[in-house]
Amino acid sequence: MHDPEIKYVEIAGFSSEVRDGTSSPGVSSAIDLCNAFSKATFPLLQSTPKHQNEWPSMTLKLPDLPYAYDALAPFMSAETLEFHHDKHHLAYVENGNKLLAGSKYEGQSLEDIVKNAYADKVAGLINNVGQHYNHLHFWQWMKKGGGGKKLPGNVQKLVDGYGGFDKMRTDFIEAGKGQFGSGWAWLAVKDGKLEVVKTPNGENPLMYGSKPILGVDVWEHSYYIDYRNARPKYLEAWFDNLINWEHVEALAG
Ligand SMILES: [Fe+2]
Repeated sequence: MHDPEIKYVEIAGFSSEVRDGTSSPGVSSAIDLCNAFSKATFPLLQSTPKHQNEWPSMTLKLPDLPYAYDALAPFMSAETLEFHHDKHHLAYVENGNKLLAGSKYEGQSLEDIVKNAYADKVAGLINNVGQHYNHLHFWQWMKKGGGGKKLPGNVQKLVDGYGGFDKMRTDFIEAGKGQFGSGWAWLAVKDGKLEVVKTPNGENPLMYGSKPILGVDVWEHSYYIDYRNARPKYLEAWFDNLINWEHVEALAG
């Protein structure tokens, strides 16, 4: 039976027990717990999420962006980031928390929820929790002054095994261009080898047994303000100027 006073939080390998309730001393420790998780998993995140009070439980939370809204211009505008992060990602968090509350998935790690929801064909969780996972990393996969051909060691080895940087770049951009409708293009690792894949809607390579190490959002909300319908231009600009290869390396290592 679910104990309403105790929630077991395990997100991406960080687990502990927190007590819920708006007036108990456990609230501050619960917030500390989440901040500790954020800093452990996303070291660029240093501040308390501003939407903390809106979360019904400690399962999913919206992180702050690890940079200012205007940091990625002109390749991704402040307006795009404000809508994308503050509206779209927040909606995935809120919808995901509503769907998780009281379900068998509550208390599972984020990655396990993503994989199990897909195995169970639970569409709402696949898309909302999948999108939460995807966006948590998407913000980290970008930085001001990103891109370039100089890759960290483990990523370079994977790319060499794939056939080189230019082939990887071409295939990744083609995957993004070729994803019909909303979705994502990915670099993922399966059996130690790099693969380029595309997925629809909120799905990601975790659901197919691969480990995602880089993903680009090709939903229109990610590029329409800045590029209108020119998805190829968005993909090329994103790849060449925004990728934070250090986060790719952290996932590949
Ligand atoms: Fe998105």
